[in-house]
Formats: sequence, C-alpha cells, structure tokens
Amino acid sequence: MDISGVPVLVTGGGKRIGKACVEALAQSHASVVIHYGSSKKEAEFLLTKIRKEGGKAAMVQGDLANPDEVGSIMQQAGQFFGPVQILLNSAAIFKPGLFKNTDLTQWHEHLNINLTAPFILMQEFAAQLPPKTPGKIINIIDQRIKRPRPGHIAYNTAKSGLWTLTQIAAQEMAPWIQVNAIAPGPILPAPDQPVASFEKVAKATPLGRPGSTDDIAQAVIFLIKQEYTTGEIIRVDGGEHLQ
Ligand SMILES: NC(=O)c1ccc[n+]([C@@H]2O[C@H](COP(=O)([O-])OP(=O)(O)OC[C@H]3O[C@@H](n4cnc5c(N)ncnc54)[C@H](OP(=O)(O)O)[C@@H]3O)[C@@H](O)[C@H]2O)c1
Repeated sequence: MDISGVPVLVTGGGKRIGKACVEALAQSHASVVIHYGSSKKEAEFLLTKIRKEGGKAAMVQGDLANPDEVGSIMQQAGQFFGPVQILLNSAAIFKPGLFKNTDLTQWHEHLNINLTAPFILMQEFAAQLPPKTPGKIINIIDQRIKRPRPGHIAYNTAKSGLWTLTQIAAQEMAPWIQVNAIAPGPILPAPDQPVASFEKVAKATPLGRPGSTDDIAQAVIFLIKQEYTTGEIIRVDGGEHLQ
C-alpha cells in the first residue's frame, strides 16, 4: 500500500513507541491523526513538528479507560483527512500485579484500555471504512503472550486477548482489511520500572540489548506495505520469546 496521503490513527501517539510510529508514518507521507489521553503538550509538539516539516497531522483526545468515550474517537479522527484507512492500536497501561493481589479496579482498568478500547476502535474502523476500500489494523501486543509468567496478570491477560482478537478479526474482516500484530520485547522501561531492572532484562535476551522505538516503527511500516499477510504477529524482542 502506498500510504502517501492515507489517513492513519495512532492511539497513544504523543510519546515513546507511539510517537516513533507517528514520525515514521509522517515521513512516509501518511496523514496522521495522533490520539492522546493526557499527553496534550507532547501531542501538540509532535503535530507542530510534522506540519513544519511539510507533513499532515491532526490530534484527537480520548480516555480509553471509558468505553463510552472510545466510540467517538474514530468518528472525530475521520473528520480531519477522511475515513481512517490504517489503525495502529499502541496505547496501553502496564502495571504490576500478582493473581492473588490484583483487585477488580486494576483488572477492569487493564481490560478496558488494553483490550476493550482496541476492540471498539476496530469495530468503528470497519464501520467507517467505505466498501471495498483496503484497510490495515496493527495491534501492539507484547512478547509476554508467548511466555506468560506471574507479575502482570491483568496486563498479560488483556494482551493475550488482543492477540486472539487480532486472529479472529483477521478472518472476519478479510479480504479488504488486514489485521496483524507486533509483539515488542524490552524497548523502553515502564515509567515506574527501575532502569537497572530494565537493562538486566534486555541484557538477558539473545540479542543482549534493548530494542529501539524505531525498530517497532519499522515493523509497522513493513506490515502496512505487506499486501498478503493477515492474522500474523511480528516479534520485535531480541529473541526474548524464545527463552
Ligand atoms: N515499552 C516497552 O518496552 C514495551 C514492551 C512490550 C510491549 N509494549 C507495548 O507497546 C505499546 C507502546 O508502549 P509504550 O511503552 O510506548 O507505552 P506507554 O508509554 O506505557 O503508553 C502509551 C500511551 O498509552 C496511552 N494511554 C494509556 N492509558 C490511556 C487512557 N486511559 N486513555 C488514553 N490513552 C491512554 C498514553 O497516552 P497519554 O500519555 O496521552 O495519556 C501513553 O502515552 C503498548 O501497547 C505496550 O504494551 C511496550
């Protein structure tokens, strides 16, 4: 797919991995709608930068924890450059919790943001796409789905659900919409994760180092260009899933 001028929505696009994807998409001349939750300043900064460089960008706010609010994000996004043709679900939360001490608030928060919000956005995406128009959905998951271990039960369960959703949607949405996933490994430390612990995890991967946000962005561009791949997962994790 030539993405020049193609409308794209990136959730959580104001910073970190989402931002790198927005930048790569803008460099490929897509018209990018940056979704943000609380990072308004970062989203504005990115939007201004893209426009200064001659690109097309817009921004839309929405709380993904609130399913009633998620429904309108796609509709708002479509008002800038026309119906969204590429949806990148990158936004998520990642909070620790064992099975025995995860309460329902933490559980619902992870399920709502990491699974229900992408589900609603995927449905809204399909509904607004004109008939016989090619579309692409990419869901950012996590290599942890291959090797679930105690520590982040609500996060892991939601991401595993998102992988199942990806595979089923790929079948139901074919042939016009391709649905794929990217499973990152250690790219950036979580906001509350000590850097030393992140570096230890990254060093223990077969490639022995963390990945970069651009590694994820390049996987996104690759999947967008792929015309014959759907229901697939690309692991960008330094081989961590093999351990
Ligand atoms: N970082 C890694 O090494 C790593 C490893 C494996 C998988 N991943 C996955 O890769 C993706 C991106 O990772 P990341 O580390 O860049 O993510 P992140 O910084 O933890 O979060 C990305 C964005 O999600 C948005 N978000 C969270 N809760 C929201 C809510 N209630 N409403 C609206 N937006 C909300 C935030 O937007 P605002 O700031 O605007 O609120 C945030 O900037 C995620 O899906 C993550 O699970 C990352």
